[in-house]
Amino acid sequence: MEQVRGKKRTIAPAKGGLGVLIPGIGAVSTTLIAGTFSVRKGLATPVGSLTQMGTIRLGKRTDLRSPRIKDFTPLAELEDLVFGGWDIHGKNAYEAALEAGVLKQEHLDPVRKEMCAVKPMEAVFDRAFVRRLEGAHVKRAKTKMHLVDLLAKDMEAFQRRTGAVRLVMIWCGSTETYLTEQEIHSDLDRFERGLKENDPAISPSMVYAYAAIRKGIPFINGAPNLTENIPALLSLSQKKRTPISGDDFKTGQTMMKTVIAPALKARMLGLSGWFSSNILGNKDGKVLDDPDSFRTKEASKLSVLQHILQPELYPHLYGDTYHKVRIDYYPPRGDDKEGWDNIDIFGWMGYPMQIKIDFLCRDSILAAPVALDLILLMDLAKRAGKFGIQEWLSFYFKNPIVPKGLYPEHDLFIQLSKLKNNLRYLMGEELITHLGVEYYPNSV
Ligand SMILES: NC(=O)c1ccc[n+]([C@@H]2O[C@H](COP(=O)([O-])OP(=O)(O)OC[C@H]3O[C@@H](n4cnc5c(N)ncnc54)[C@H](O)[C@@H]3O)[C@@H](O)[C@H]2O)c1
Repeated sequence: MEQVRGKKRTIAPAKGGLGVLIPGIGAVSTTLIAGTFSVRKGLATPVGSLTQMGTIRLGKRTDLRSPRIKDFTPLAELEDLVFGGWDIHGKNAYEAALEAGVLKQEHLDPVRKEMCAVKPMEAVFDRAFVRRLEGAHVKRAKTKMHLVDLLAKDMEAFQRRTGAVRLVMIWCGSTETYLTEQEIHSDLDRFERGLKENDPAISPSMVYAYAAIRKGIPFINGAPNLTENIPALLSLSQKKRTPISGDDFKTGQTMMKTVIAPALKARMLGLSGWFSSNILGNKDGKVLDDPDSFRTKEASKLSVLQHILQPELYPHLYGDTYHKVRIDYYPPRGDDKEGWDNIDIFGWMGYPMQIKIDFLCRDSILAAPVALDLILLMDLAKRAGKFGIQEWLSFYFKNPIVPKGLYPEHDLFIQLSKLKNNLRYLMGEELITHLGVEYYPNSV
């Protein structure tokens, strides 16, 4: 049986420092930074990180070849990561982590010196896009194009200061208000004109994304905002041969949804309703308390079921599914989110059944390893000469970006196979189809 084999690409070596530039020094990013430093010191294990903990099967099951992903692919080492970023507050990463309240002081203190050295640069900020926050640590400039130039200067200064030889930018800033694609986003010329003329439909996250992609720096969007997924920035990523990926880290409730929904569909069980409710009390929850920021998150969370269940193909099972998502800000819980799901399903002869999920999760504990993997894999993509949308990383996102006309894959296990096959392809290994006939040579 002929197997499909990838073409080994030339991948530039991961030599030297990798600068991680983060708009948003908040709960997720400080948990990522503290965890990385702790792993480096041998004080923690990178639980939740596929690149650090996961293996990849190569060849046949009988070959017993399952190296660690980090040994199989030439990823940057955690020792080589250097962190920088921007925020509207001027607190260093240690102070911001204490305020976020995700990690205990006893886990932050051993890495205090390194965390204190990560001081946010002045942010590009506009309250019209995040109404629940305000801060004075922000850039002032005549136009949005001038803000881009200031960000470019920040990035150059960061590289000089740290000696980083490559950069990756990852948006860990607050969820911006709901924005739909407009004419100004429709092509690069219009968009650049809009930057010069301060068009109100260009958000701060778009200013960061443009600044990164223009410099050929891979850009990742960890939030649901409309940012890099607009024709203007998609074409810039092609022009600058730069990889981009997004949107919205897939962590708690949506990760569970993209496990349960495919199981129901695989067994052809019907779904009459899915009610999802969340309470959380961190700053992200406060921002999402604004209906316009919530709308952005809601759109991202709602799209998942529609794409997995394909009601157009299965109208009897999923044509009438009622799907509702709620997020409520509840300060006493801090970052310890609780997500409830009530799932009304039906089986043989239409008999109803219910599934209840109560996920007492920790938002940033789930998000930090996702952010780490994305940083390392996007840097790999860039060194391997990949550019534009990196659909193979959809595993990590609630709302994976895809070219117009293509629906995204949401099923977590299809996404995992896609990711691993892309790594095999990149490294010139056989792709794994799970056909299995190779183990039964005497059967037809
Ligand atoms: N934690 C998760 O599981 C998870 C999952 C998916 C997506 N997200 C998204 O990740 C983002 C970060 O989450 P978090 O819990 O760290 O939030 P957070 O509120 O703790 O941190 C966000 C930080 O971004 C800063 N900020 C806002 N606008 C900015 C700008 N224009 N420039 C620079 N900084 C800016 C805020 O001041 C804040 O410090 C949010 O958009 C959230 O919705 C989080």
